[in-house]
Amino acid sequence: MCGIVGYIGSKKVSPILIQGLTRLEYRGYDSAGIAVIEGNKIEVKKDKGRVNNLYSLDGIDDLKGTIGIAHTRWATHGKPSKENSHPHMDNDKIFAVVHNGIIENYNELREKLIEKGYEFISQTDTEVIPNLINYYYKEDNEKDNLKLLRAVKNTCMDLKGSFALEIISIREPDNMIVVRKDSPLVIGKGNGENYIASDIPAILSYTKDFYFLNDYEFAYLSRDNVKFYDTNLNEIKKITKSIEWDSKGAEKAGYEHFMLKEIYEQPKAIRETIGTRLNNSKICFDELNFTKEYLESVNKIYIVACGTAMHAGLVAKNMFEKLCKIQTEVDIASEFRYRDPLIDNKTLAIFISQSGETADTIAALKLAKSKGAKTIAISNVIGSSITREADNTIYTHAGPEIAVASTKAYTAQITILSLIALYCADILRRADIIKIEEIKQDLLKLPAKASKVLKNVEEIKKFAKRVYKEKDMFFLGRGVDYSASLEGSLKLKEISYIHSEGYASGELKHGPIALIDTGITVIATITDKALVEKSISNVQEVITRGAKILLITNQNLENKGFETIINIPEVATELSPVLSIIPLQLLAYYISKEKGLDVDKPRNLAKSVTVE
Ligand code: M6R
Repeated sequence: MCGIVGYIGSKKVSPILIQGLTRLEYRGYDSAGIAVIEGNKIEVKKDKGRVNNLYSLDGIDDLKGTIGIAHTRWATHGKPSKENSHPHMDNDKIFAVVHNGIIENYNELREKLIEKGYEFISQTDTEVIPNLINYYYKEDNEKDNLKLLRAVKNTCMDLKGSFALEIISIREPDNMIVVRKDSPLVIGKGNGENYIASDIPAILSYTKDFYFLNDYEFAYLSRDNVKFYDTNLNEIKKITKSIEWDSKGAEKAGYEHFMLKEIYEQPKAIRETIGTRLNNSKICFDELNFTKEYLESVNKIYIVACGTAMHAGLVAKNMFEKLCKIQTEVDIASEFRYRDPLIDNKTLAIFISQSGETADTIAALKLAKSKGAKTIAISNVIGSSITREADNTIYTHAGPEIAVASTKAYTAQITILSLIALYCADILRRADIIKIEEIKQDLLKLPAKASKVLKNVEEIKKFAKRVYKEKDMFFLGRGVDYSASLEGSLKLKEISYIHSEGYASGELKHGPIALIDTGITVIATITDKALVEKSISNVQEVITRGAKILLITNQNLENKGFETIINIPEVATELSPVLSIIPLQLLAYYISKEKGLDVDKPRNLAKSVTVE
């Protein structure tokens, strides 16, 4: 959470910083601020509220400096206020710092600094950082040119928790230092200038060449150069990676919201995620290079993730069990990491994270690795933290996902997981070959079929208009339709603030059916041919109790009292959530829009959850 941006070059920095923050606002949006080196002073402009408020702050237009740092906040310590906004400075106003992450031992550090005479004006954990830098800088009697770097390094060694930091100082007005530990930060290399941001899309319009830092690597930037140091302050070499994303991917391109654009980008995201991996029925994963002997030794697969990514994992479980005959468990990362899961070197553990920065998922991966599991990370972001921890990384190619509500990442995740399951199934040969080939062929048809589903938008809009004032809704399904229902329910909750529950249809009469009353909206998904009769019976049970039904189906069903039916194309059941989720995403979107809510930046949420 929280977004940081930085620039060092010869252009006026304040517009670059504010524009960068606007692109990062999905990471946090309760306060924003910038710090710019102006001659022999650091000017800080900050306040609570959205990034746009910065334009109206006194004196912001007068800033002429060409080196600066910026921050958009998702409050953890201290409520949103001007004092708690970043950047923070030390007592002598020599250093300015922006921070993304949490300093767990800030109380202890604060007490120590207070004993030494330092004063604090905010309630944040961050304010200890500029003051510690101040302390170490003053203590240092060396005369070399690494004094600032040493003070930053010593400070970082005292910090417990997570941090991505940018530091500027009037002692070195032509430099900037950045460092990270467990929080994201990338450096974009320009010509006579360098950019820093929490993620790639924020600065993609300036450069496509990026440096990625590992934990505790310090980057010492000037306009023309970036030097890297380890914790012993020995210089280390790094090379840039070129990113192929189009900067337009991070713009709305005429859509009213990023979420809508990203829903419509799903056919492309699925197509590009399949890429050249599936050719004439042969599936290629050179990164994995699994042998039959290795796969036969695997006795358990764990799929671990959070939120939407975890829901994609639920869809994949079905495939790994059916096609590979390997017991597969799906777990929420924050639970998995603390429940002492049974893992050994026969475990294959797959971790899914769109951003690649989710703290719980990364911690879960580290745990599985330490217990001997082979680990695979599935991420959408090149060079993200999770990709540096896993034994193998497989990328989805959904392009930048900006809206807080995840849409195209989910369908791309199911696509890549299906490919992995089919790849393993081909090697293991434990399942019916005809079935495996059928799923492969259907995978290739998904992009065209997803485009077809998107054509149902008018009916969904109408339904959204009828139900947007409701307080509760239920999503029902069996098997893979249950997985899609959980995801549909999450989408509705997070952007429309309507309470909703996803239930396994057959479980309804074991309690939840007591909640069904006249007029309540139930969204039922029925795509599994083998379960149609049973699913219909469950829906009839709620109709009898007065529910109004939106039915998403790929079966030719007679209308037995459903309010609206959305027909979607048929596809192998294993893959059907890729299509059935699209109407549910659109429904959540149009309900949120009808309610006049901030679709892309729902309250209390941030795109990547880098704290526990
Ligand atoms: O970046 P990740 O895939 O690790 O994020 C996981 C969840 O935080 C994320 O999917 C979240 O649930 C979305 N807001 C759902 O739309």
